[in-house]
Amino acid sequence: MKWLTISIPTAVSVAVVSVVLSGPTGGRLALSSEAPSAQDRQAGSGAAANQSLRYAGDVEHGRYLVEQVAMCVECHSPRDSQGRIIDEQRFLGAPIPVRAPSWSSDWAAAAPRNRGLPGYDDEQAMRLLTEGAIKRDGTQLRPPMPRFRMSHQDAADVIAYLRSLE
Ligand code: HEC
Repeated sequence: MKWLTISIPTAVSVAVVSVVLSGPTGGRLALSSEAPSAQDRQAGSGAAANQSLRYAGDVEHGRYLVEQVAMCVECHSPRDSQGRIIDEQRFLGAPIPVRAPSWSSDWAAAAPRNRGLPGYDDEQAMRLLTEGAIKRDGTQLRPPMPRFRMSHQDAADVIAYLRSLE
């Protein structure tokens, strides 16, 4: 697949998508704490609001998820000409240097800022991370944003960490 080899950051991003979507990482996210019940999923955003109040976010575990597991930092941070993430600009948004693969008709050209999760209240951020990348307006975010289905605790931790960076 030609688009996999365009550049190193590209390969990393694409690898991240497949790992997060189908690999052991997804399983680990779901396993590391209580998974949402079918009832929570059916109840939708109302339940998510209660969940976000029920789970206090752990900033340190959120940092680990964001930097080492879900790899949000890899796509959402600008890079220098060598492809290294620019430290002061982490999570401020970046272009996606990967062309859409032929099977995708819908592909985002950029990952917007997610430092502080601007524009998202806790309920919306919880829904985004637990229900498969639902944008704040209720629509589906485009690939390559992974369709995370985190546990409510992991999502609360991620939210706490990203909010702590503001
Ligand atoms: C493989 C690349 C990639 C990874 C990894 C990734 N994102 Fe994204 N993200 C994107 C892209 C691309 C978009 C824009 C999608 C669109 O425009 O439809 C996006 C959109 C978002 C948005 C919506 C912003 C808005 O203005 O509505 C949020 C919030 C977000 N991501 C948070 C995260 C978090 C938190 C993580 C880690 C848990 C993460 N992303 C991991 C690529 C990625």
